[in-house]
Amino acid sequence: MKDVYILGIESSCDETSISIVKNGNVEIATTVLTQMDTHAKYGGVVPEIASRMHTENITMVLEDLLNKTDLQIEDVDAIAVTYAPGLLGSLLVGIEFAKVLSMVYNKPLIKVHHIAGHIYANNLVKKIEFPTLALIVSGGHTELVKMNDDYDFLILGTTLDDAIGECFDKVARVLGLSYPGGPNLEKLALNGKKSYDLPIPMNNNELNFSFSGLKSSVINLVHNEHQRGNEINREDLAYSFQDVAIDEIIRKTKLAIERTRIKRLIVAGGVSASKYLRGKLEQLCEEMNVDLSIPPIKYCTDNATMIACAAYPLFLKKEFSNLSLNGKSQEYFFKEDVNKK
Ligand code: KG4
Ligand code: ZN
Repeated sequence: MKDVYILGIESSCDETSISIVKNGNVEIATTVLTQMDTHAKYGGVVPEIASRMHTENITMVLEDLLNKTDLQIEDVDAIAVTYAPGLLGSLLVGIEFAKVLSMVYNKPLIKVHHIAGHIYANNLVKKIEFPTLALIVSGGHTELVKMNDDYDFLILGTTLDDAIGECFDKVARVLGLSYPGGPNLEKLALNGKKSYDLPIPMNNNELNFSFSGLKSSVINLVHNEHQRGNEINREDLAYSFQDVAIDEIIRKTKLAIERTRIKRLIVAGGVSASKYLRGKLEQLCEEMNVDLSIPPIKYCTDNATMIACAAYPLFLKKEFSNLSLNGKSQEYFFKEDVNKK
Protein backbone atom coordinates (compact mmCIF):
# COMPACT_ATOMS: atom_id res chain seq x y z
CA MET A 1 0.00 0.00 0.00
CA LYS A 2 1.13 3.52 -0.78
CA ASP A 3 2.42 5.52 2.19
CA VAL A 4 -0.04 8.02 3.64
CA TYR A 5 1.20 11.42 4.81
CA ILE A 6 -1.10 13.50 6.99
CA LEU A 7 -0.54 17.10 8.00
CA GLY A 8 -2.02 17.71 11.46
CA ILE A 9 -2.89 21.02 13.11
CA GLU A 10 -3.47 21.63 16.83
CA SER A 11 -4.50 24.98 18.33
CA SER A 12 -7.09 24.08 20.97
CA CYS A 13 -5.40 25.83 23.90
CA ASP A 14 -2.07 27.63 24.13
CA GLU A 15 0.13 25.64 21.75
CA THR A 16 0.20 26.30 18.02
CA SER A 17 1.46 23.14 16.41
CA ILE A 18 1.68 21.58 12.95
CA SER A 19 3.13 18.18 12.10
CA ILE A 20 3.46 15.70 9.26
CA VAL A 21 3.13 12.01 10.13
CA LYS A 22 3.54 8.98 7.85
CA ASN A 23 1.10 6.05 8.12
CA GLY A 24 -0.20 7.19 11.50
CA ASN A 25 2.96 6.33 13.41
CA VAL A 26 6.12 7.80 11.87
CA GLU A 27 6.79 11.43 12.74
CA ILE A 28 8.30 13.23 9.75
CA ALA A 29 8.53 16.71 11.29
CA THR A 30 6.75 18.77 13.95
CA THR A 31 6.75 22.35 15.14
CA VAL A 32 5.21 23.37 18.46
CA LEU A 33 5.08 27.01 19.50
CA THR A 34 3.92 27.46 23.08
CA GLN A 35 2.39 30.62 24.51
CA MET A 36 2.93 29.41 28.07
CA ASP A 37 5.22 32.27 29.15
CA THR A 38 2.71 34.88 28.04
CA HIS A 39 -0.24 33.28 29.88
CA ALA A 40 1.85 32.57 32.99
CA LYS A 41 1.90 36.35 33.63
CA TYR A 42 -1.91 36.26 33.99
CA GLY A 43 -2.11 33.10 36.08
CA GLY A 44 -3.89 31.10 33.36
CA VAL A 45 -4.73 31.00 29.67
CA VAL A 46 -6.42 34.22 28.53
CA PRO A 47 -8.69 33.13 25.63
CA GLU A 48 -8.54 36.40 23.66
CA ILE A 49 -4.74 36.54 23.84
CA ALA A 50 -4.50 32.85 22.91
CA SER A 51 -6.55 33.17 19.73
CA ARG A 52 -4.72 36.33 18.68
CA MET A 53 -1.34 34.67 19.16
CA HIS A 54 -2.47 31.59 17.20
CA THR A 55 -3.51 33.89 14.34
CA GLU A 56 -0.17 35.71 14.42
CA ASN A 57 1.90 32.54 14.64
CA ILE A 58 0.24 29.81 12.61
CA THR A 59 1.75 30.74 9.21
CA MET A 60 5.21 30.94 10.80
CA VAL A 61 4.69 27.54 12.40
CA LEU A 62 3.84 26.04 8.99
CA GLU A 63 6.87 27.68 7.41
CA ASP A 64 9.11 26.37 10.17
CA LEU A 65 7.69 22.86 9.76
CA LEU A 66 8.21 22.85 5.99
CA ASN A 67 11.82 23.95 6.51
CA LYS A 68 12.40 20.74 8.49
CA THR A 69 11.36 18.37 5.69
CA ASP A 70 11.68 17.88 1.94
CA LEU A 71 7.94 17.31 1.74
CA GLN A 72 5.64 20.03 0.45
CA ILE A 73 1.95 20.45 1.20
CA GLU A 74 1.28 19.03 -2.30
CA ASP A 75 2.83 15.75 -1.09
CA VAL A 76 0.48 15.15 1.84
CA ASP A 77 -2.69 13.07 1.50
CA ALA A 78 -4.92 14.91 3.96
CA ILE A 79 -5.18 17.85 6.36
CA ALA A 80 -6.26 16.99 9.92
CA VAL A 81 -7.27 19.45 12.61
CA THR A 82 -8.45 19.44 16.23
CA TYR A 83 -12.11 20.54 16.24
CA ALA A 84 -12.95 19.92 19.95
CA PRO A 85 -12.73 20.47 22.85
CA GLY A 86 -10.85 23.66 23.72
CA LEU A 87 -11.08 27.43 23.58
CA LEU A 88 -13.44 28.22 20.72
CA GLY A 89 -11.49 31.18 19.36
CA SER A 90 -8.28 29.14 19.42
CA LEU A 91 -9.86 26.08 17.80
CA LEU A 92 -11.28 28.24 15.02
CA VAL A 93 -7.85 29.58 14.04
CA GLY A 94 -6.62 26.04 13.40
CA ILE A 95 -9.86 24.97 11.73
CA GLU A 96 -9.99 27.92 9.31
CA PHE A 97 -6.30 27.44 8.48
CA ALA A 98 -6.92 23.73 7.81
CA LYS A 99 -9.90 24.57 5.59
CA VAL A 100 -7.82 26.98 3.51
CA LEU A 101 -5.06 24.39 3.04
CA SER A 102 -7.62 21.72 2.18
CA MET A 103 -9.31 23.97 -0.39
CA VAL A 104 -6.19 25.45 -1.98
CA TYR A 105 -4.31 22.14 -2.24
CA ASN A 106 -7.41 20.05 -2.85
CA LYS A 107 -6.81 17.66 0.07
CA PRO A 108 -9.44 15.90 2.19
CA LEU A 109 -10.14 17.52 5.58
CA ILE A 110 -10.26 15.33 8.69
CA LYS A 111 -11.65 16.47 12.04
CA VAL A 112 -9.97 15.00 15.11
CA HIS A 113 -11.09 15.12 18.74
CA HIS A 114 -8.27 16.32 20.99
CA ILE A 115 -8.57 13.27 23.25
CA ALA A 116 -8.32 10.90 20.25
CA GLY A 117 -5.04 12.69 19.58
CA HIS A 118 -3.76 11.99 23.09
CA ILE A 119 -4.77 8.31 22.74
CA TYR A 120 -3.20 7.82 19.29
CA ALA A 121 0.09 9.40 20.40
CA ASN A 122 0.71 5.87 21.68
CA ASN A 123 1.18 4.69 18.08
CA LEU A 124 4.39 6.73 17.98
CA VAL A 125 5.86 4.37 20.58
CA LYS A 126 4.49 1.08 19.31
CA LYS A 127 1.45 0.26 17.18
CA ILE A 128 -1.56 -0.10 19.51
CA GLU A 129 -2.66 -3.75 19.68
CA PHE A 130 -6.24 -4.70 20.48
CA PRO A 131 -7.90 -5.36 22.79
CA THR A 132 -6.21 -2.90 25.11
CA LEU A 133 -7.09 -0.94 28.21
CA ALA A 134 -6.65 2.80 27.89
CA LEU A 135 -6.21 5.17 30.83
CA ILE A 136 -7.06 8.75 29.90
CA VAL A 137 -5.95 11.42 32.36
CA SER A 138 -6.23 14.99 31.15
CA GLY A 139 -7.54 18.43 32.00
CA GLY A 140 -11.06 17.47 30.95
CA HIS A 141 -11.16 13.66 30.94
CA THR A 142 -10.50 10.85 33.42
CA GLU A 143 -11.45 7.46 32.03
CA LEU A 144 -10.64 3.81 31.99
CA VAL A 145 -11.66 2.46 28.62
CA LYS A 146 -11.49 -0.84 26.78
CA MET A 147 -10.50 -0.44 23.14
CA ASN A 148 -11.53 -3.34 20.91
CA ASP A 149 -10.37 -1.73 17.69
CA ASP A 150 -9.55 1.70 16.26
CA TYR A 151 -12.16 4.17 17.51
CA ASP A 152 -14.07 1.36 19.24
CA PHE A 153 -14.28 2.30 22.90
CA LEU A 154 -16.12 0.82 25.87
CA ILE A 155 -16.05 2.97 28.98
CA LEU A 156 -15.32 1.01 32.13
CA GLY A 157 -15.10 4.01 34.43
CA THR A 158 -15.17 7.77 34.29
CA THR A 159 -15.13 10.69 36.69
CA LEU A 160 -18.41 11.57 38.32
CA ASP A 161 -17.27 15.17 38.84
CA ASP A 162 -13.89 16.83 38.24
CA ALA A 163 -11.23 15.53 35.88
CA ILE A 164 -7.89 14.71 37.48
CA GLY A 165 -6.01 17.48 35.63
CA GLU A 166 -8.61 20.03 36.64
CA CYS A 167 -8.20 18.93 40.26
CA PHE A 168 -4.38 19.29 40.03
CA ASP A 169 -4.82 22.79 38.58
CA LYS A 170 -7.27 23.94 41.31
CA VAL A 171 -5.11 22.57 44.12
CA ALA A 172 -2.02 24.17 42.55
CA ARG A 173 -3.83 27.50 42.55
CA VAL A 174 -4.78 27.31 46.23
CA LEU A 175 -1.14 26.44 46.99
CA GLY A 176 -0.19 29.71 45.29
CA LEU A 177 1.46 28.06 42.29
CA SER A 178 1.49 29.77 38.95
CA TYR A 179 0.09 28.39 35.72
CA PRO A 180 0.53 25.64 34.52
CA GLY A 181 -0.61 24.08 37.79
CA GLY A 182 -0.04 20.34 37.33
CA PRO A 183 3.67 20.37 36.48
CA ASN A 184 4.39 23.05 39.10
CA LEU A 185 2.61 21.04 41.76
CA GLU A 186 4.67 17.99 40.86
CA LYS A 187 7.85 20.07 41.20
CA LEU A 188 6.80 21.41 44.62
CA ALA A 189 5.95 17.89 45.80
CA LEU A 190 9.49 16.71 45.02
CA ASN A 191 10.60 18.30 48.32
CA GLY A 192 7.60 17.10 50.31
CA LYS A 193 6.56 14.02 52.25
CA LYS A 194 3.26 12.47 53.23
CA SER A 195 2.22 14.34 56.36
CA TYR A 196 -1.37 15.46 55.65
CA ASP A 197 -4.19 12.97 55.98
CA LEU A 198 -6.55 13.54 53.05
CA PRO A 199 -9.72 11.56 52.28
CA ILE A 200 -9.43 8.71 49.77
CA PRO A 201 -11.87 9.43 46.93
CA MET A 202 -14.49 6.79 46.03
CA ASN A 203 -13.13 4.26 48.46
CA ASN A 204 -15.01 1.37 46.86
CA ASN A 205 -14.72 -1.24 44.15
CA GLU A 206 -16.35 0.78 41.38
CA LEU A 207 -14.27 1.79 38.38
CA ASN A 208 -15.60 5.34 38.43
CA PHE A 209 -13.59 8.22 39.83
CA SER A 210 -14.45 11.26 41.93
CA PHE A 211 -11.99 14.04 42.65
CA SER A 212 -14.11 16.94 43.86
CA GLY A 213 -14.15 15.76 47.51
CA LEU A 214 -10.36 15.53 47.57
CA LYS A 215 -10.05 18.94 45.92
CA SER A 216 -12.48 20.55 48.41
CA SER A 217 -10.71 19.02 51.39
CA VAL A 218 -7.38 20.56 50.29
CA ILE A 219 -9.02 23.95 49.67
CA ASN A 220 -10.81 23.84 53.04
CA LEU A 221 -7.65 22.77 54.84
CA VAL A 222 -5.69 25.70 53.39
CA HIS A 223 -8.45 28.22 54.21
CA ASN A 224 -8.91 26.89 57.76
CA GLU A 225 -5.19 27.01 58.51
CA HIS A 226 -4.98 30.56 57.13
CA GLN A 227 -7.89 31.64 59.32
CA ARG A 228 -6.19 30.18 62.37
CA GLY A 229 -2.99 31.95 61.39
CA ASN A 230 -1.18 28.61 60.98
CA GLU A 231 1.54 28.01 58.40
CA ILE A 232 0.95 25.38 55.73
CA ASN A 233 3.77 23.11 54.69
CA ARG A 234 3.14 23.58 50.96
CA GLU A 235 5.62 20.92 49.85
CA ASP A 236 4.06 18.32 52.16
CA LEU A 237 0.52 19.24 51.18
CA ALA A 238 1.42 19.05 47.46
CA TYR A 239 2.99 15.63 48.04
CA SER A 240 0.09 14.35 50.16
CA PHE A 241 -2.46 15.47 47.57
CA GLN A 242 -0.54 14.07 44.62
CA ASP A 243 -0.07 10.77 46.42
CA VAL A 244 -3.80 10.31 47.15
CA ALA A 245 -4.92 11.45 43.68
CA ILE A 246 -2.46 9.27 41.77
CA ASP A 247 -3.05 6.32 44.12
CA GLU A 248 -6.71 6.46 43.19
CA ILE A 249 -5.81 6.26 39.49
CA ILE A 250 -3.51 3.29 40.18
CA ARG A 251 -6.08 1.46 42.34
CA LYS A 252 -8.79 1.74 39.69
CA THR A 253 -6.41 0.79 36.88
CA LYS A 254 -5.45 -2.32 38.83
CA LEU A 255 -9.12 -3.21 39.29
CA ALA A 256 -9.77 -2.75 35.55
CA ILE A 257 -6.85 -5.06 34.69
CA GLU A 258 -8.11 -7.69 37.15
CA ARG A 259 -11.69 -7.50 35.88
CA THR A 260 -11.00 -7.51 32.15
CA ARG A 261 -7.86 -9.69 32.30
CA ILE A 262 -6.47 -7.55 29.50
CA LYS A 263 -2.70 -7.48 29.67
CA ARG A 264 -2.15 -4.29 27.69
CA LEU A 265 -2.42 -0.70 28.93
CA ILE A 266 -1.97 2.52 26.98
CA VAL A 267 -1.94 5.87 28.76
CA ALA A 268 -3.01 9.22 27.35
CA GLY A 269 -3.50 12.88 28.28
CA GLY A 270 -1.57 15.73 29.84
CA VAL A 271 -1.43 14.25 33.35
CA SER A 272 0.54 11.28 31.96
CA ALA A 273 3.45 13.75 31.81
CA SER A 274 3.57 13.30 35.61
CA LYS A 275 6.73 11.38 36.47
CA TYR A 276 5.11 10.31 39.73
CA LEU A 277 2.21 8.71 37.83
CA ARG A 278 4.54 7.17 35.23
CA GLY A 279 6.64 5.56 37.97
CA LYS A 280 3.61 4.12 39.76
CA LEU A 281 2.16 2.77 36.50
CA GLU A 282 5.47 1.12 35.61
CA GLN A 283 5.54 -0.54 39.01
CA LEU A 284 1.92 -1.74 38.72
CA CYS A 285 2.35 -3.13 35.22
CA GLU A 286 5.54 -4.91 36.14
CA GLU A 287 3.81 -6.54 39.12
CA MET A 288 0.82 -7.56 37.00
CA ASN A 289 2.80 -8.54 33.91
CA VAL A 290 1.00 -5.96 31.79
CA ASP A 291 2.45 -4.47 28.61
CA LEU A 292 2.52 -0.70 29.33
CA SER A 293 2.72 2.07 26.74
CA ILE A 294 3.07 5.73 27.69
CA PRO A 295 4.15 8.27 25.05
CA PRO A 296 7.35 10.19 25.76
CA ILE A 297 6.61 13.38 27.73
CA LYS A 298 6.84 15.66 24.68
CA TYR A 299 3.91 13.76 23.10
CA CYS A 300 1.85 13.86 26.34
CA THR A 301 1.57 17.62 26.27
CA ASP A 302 -0.34 19.24 23.40
CA ASN A 303 1.15 18.75 19.94
CA ALA A 304 -0.02 18.23 16.36
CA THR A 305 1.87 14.96 15.89
CA MET A 306 -0.80 13.17 17.91
CA ILE A 307 -3.55 14.80 15.81
CA ALA A 308 -2.01 13.51 12.57
CA CYS A 309 -1.65 10.04 14.18
CA ALA A 310 -5.31 9.99 15.24
CA ALA A 311 -6.40 11.08 11.76
CA TYR A 312 -4.85 8.03 10.06
CA PRO A 313 -7.57 5.46 10.93
CA LEU A 314 -10.17 8.07 9.92
CA PHE A 315 -8.35 8.58 6.60
CA LEU A 316 -8.49 4.82 5.95
CA LYS A 317 -12.24 4.87 6.70
CA LYS A 318 -12.61 7.97 4.49
CA GLU A 319 -14.23 9.91 7.33
CA PHE A 320 -13.80 13.33 5.79
CA SER A 321 -15.33 16.69 6.71
CA ASN A 322 -16.46 19.46 4.46
CA LEU A 323 -15.80 23.18 4.67
CA SER A 324 -18.74 23.73 7.04
CA LEU A 325 -16.64 22.14 9.84
CA ASN A 326 -17.05 24.11 13.05
CA GLY A 327 -15.26 24.11 16.38
CA LYS A 328 -16.84 22.87 19.62
CA SER A 329 -15.54 24.18 22.90
CA GLN A 330 -17.02 21.26 24.81
CA GLU A 331 -17.56 17.81 23.46
CA TYR A 332 -17.20 14.65 25.48
CA PHE A 333 -15.22 12.19 23.40
CA PHE A 334 -16.82 8.91 24.44
CA LYS A 335 -20.42 8.67 23.40
CA GLU A 336 -21.33 5.45 25.15
CA ASP A 337 -23.13 4.97 28.43
CA VAL A 338 -20.94 4.71 31.46
CA ASN A 339 -20.58 1.18 32.84
CA LYS A 340 -22.09 -0.50 29.77
CA LYS A 341 -19.71 -3.43 30.00
O1 KG4 B 1 -4.46 16.49 28.21
P1 KG4 B 1 -4.39 17.95 28.53
O2 KG4 B 1 -3.75 18.79 27.48
O3 KG4 B 1 -5.82 18.48 28.88
C1 KG4 B 1 -6.84 18.39 28.04
O4 KG4 B 1 -6.57 18.20 26.84
O5 KG4 B 1 -7.97 18.45 28.59
O6 KG4 B 1 -3.62 18.08 29.87
C2 KG4 B 1 -3.52 19.26 30.60
C3 KG4 B 1 -3.60 18.88 32.05
C4 KG4 B 1 -3.57 20.09 32.95
O7 KG4 B 1 -4.60 19.95 33.89
C5 KG4 B 1 -2.19 19.99 33.58
O8 KG4 B 1 -2.13 20.59 34.85
C6 KG4 B 1 -2.00 18.51 33.65
O9 KG4 B 1 -2.48 18.06 32.39
N1 KG4 B 1 -0.58 18.15 33.82
C7 KG4 B 1 -0.08 17.55 34.93
C8 KG4 B 1 1.31 17.43 34.71
N2 KG4 B 1 1.60 17.94 33.50
C9 KG4 B 1 0.43 18.37 32.96
N3 KG4 B 1 -0.67 17.14 36.04
C10 KG4 B 1 0.09 16.57 36.99
N4 KG4 B 1 1.41 16.44 36.89
C11 KG4 B 1 2.08 16.83 35.78
N5 KG4 B 1 3.40 16.68 35.68
ZN1 ZN C 1 -4.32 18.04 25.65
